[in-house]
Amino acid sequence: MDVIDVIVTKRDGGELSTAQIDWVIENYTSGAVADEQMSALNMAILLNGMDRREISDWTKAMIRSGERMDWSALDRPTTDKHSTGGVGDKITLPLSPAVAACGGAVPQLSGRGLGHTGGTLDKLESIPGWRARLSNAEMLAVLREAGSVICAAGEGLAPADRKLYALRDVTGTVESIPLIASSIMSKKIAEGTSALVLDVKTGSGAFMKTPERARELARTMVELGHDAGVDTVALLTAMDRPLGRTAGNALEVAESLEVLAGGGPADIVELTVALGREMLAAAGIYGKDPADALRDGTAMDHWRRMIIAQGGDPDAPLPVARETHTVTAPASGVLTRLDALAVGVAAWRLGAGRARKEDPVSAGAGITWHAVPGDRVEAGRPLFTLHADEPVRFERALQALEDACEIVPDGVPRLLPLIIERIV
Ligand code: URA
Repeated sequence: MDVIDVIVTKRDGGELSTAQIDWVIENYTSGAVADEQMSALNMAILLNGMDRREISDWTKAMIRSGERMDWSALDRPTTDKHSTGGVGDKITLPLSPAVAACGGAVPQLSGRGLGHTGGTLDKLESIPGWRARLSNAEMLAVLREAGSVICAAGEGLAPADRKLYALRDVTGTVESIPLIASSIMSKKIAEGTSALVLDVKTGSGAFMKTPERARELARTMVELGHDAGVDTVALLTAMDRPLGRTAGNALEVAESLEVLAGGGPADIVELTVALGREMLAAAGIYGKDPADALRDGTAMDHWRRMIIAQGGDPDAPLPVARETHTVTAPASGVLTRLDALAVGVAAWRLGAGRARKEDPVSAGAGITWHAVPGDRVEAGRPLFTLHADEPVRFERALQALEDACEIVPDGVPRLLPLIIERIV
């Protein structure tokens, strides 16, 4: 086979055969196909798309590039959630132990934050002692002990995707629905879960800015899941405003602890419970409700077991930033808009996120908002608290927040519903 033929087929709008896809993924992983050739093919895919059969073949080839994990030794069904990422999205933290408390096994491989969206591993690493890197045997031991595990994907999982995603990142080829869907689903299918719930976000703070694009991504991923024998459901959810009241690593752990203690912001609780119910139903577990697990302390009990099993101290004080800065409301009225992207960029500039994969993050940095859309605010009262280790960061975060809010006397917010649609 000739790589130029593969590139030209897609450049001219043709369909790649199964053999071409298998060959190109295998030879890119081994290094026989060069980065510049794969970049040209990625760009041709971004411009001309792939049909359902091609996306399915592409995903299967990426799964075959590495190991497929196996949880058949467990005595309970596996079920997982993947979020396409957003601002203040700490749902995995209360969700995984809540589902474990209801009888599911949650083998969750998570990522780190890049840009304005946070990463679950960065959040959990603010807990003293907690370890993201586990061997497969350690993952199994934590699952047996706590019912859920949250850790980093090992090197052996979909190595073709790791190489390809890094290349797409630097060649302007991330924003292709076939490539995003196959990238996410190859990792989730290789992770070995038998049921999967996708939280596909839309709005300013999401990857997919419009519900139409988010719906197309969700449908594509649900189809890939079904093709691979994984019971897959997607919820399309709002990311026009941030979730909860905080964005930042330790700040979000603290907020998640409030949810695990039976309180916390209403939107976090609503989404946690909705996703948890979907995860249990997809795994065939009925008669248990994650809302009860949050209320009766069993979710918190499973959280503590999971944190301890991964080396963390659930009672240790969480890190706090060295400096804070309060932003007050410029006028009185109803907060009608709080822009997710602006809040995410502000948190990132405060030190909560990273611009390059190698950058460190600050555990204590981030932002707290004291009102959510629909709330009445008073001029001069605190609207945001900014947290950073270096005060020099405040100015650039404040710039990001300049147009983040709209306050209108007797205004009514125009928001997406928190849960927009269910896609099966
Ligand atoms: N997340 C992934 O894992 N892959 C993509 O392509 C985009 C987001």
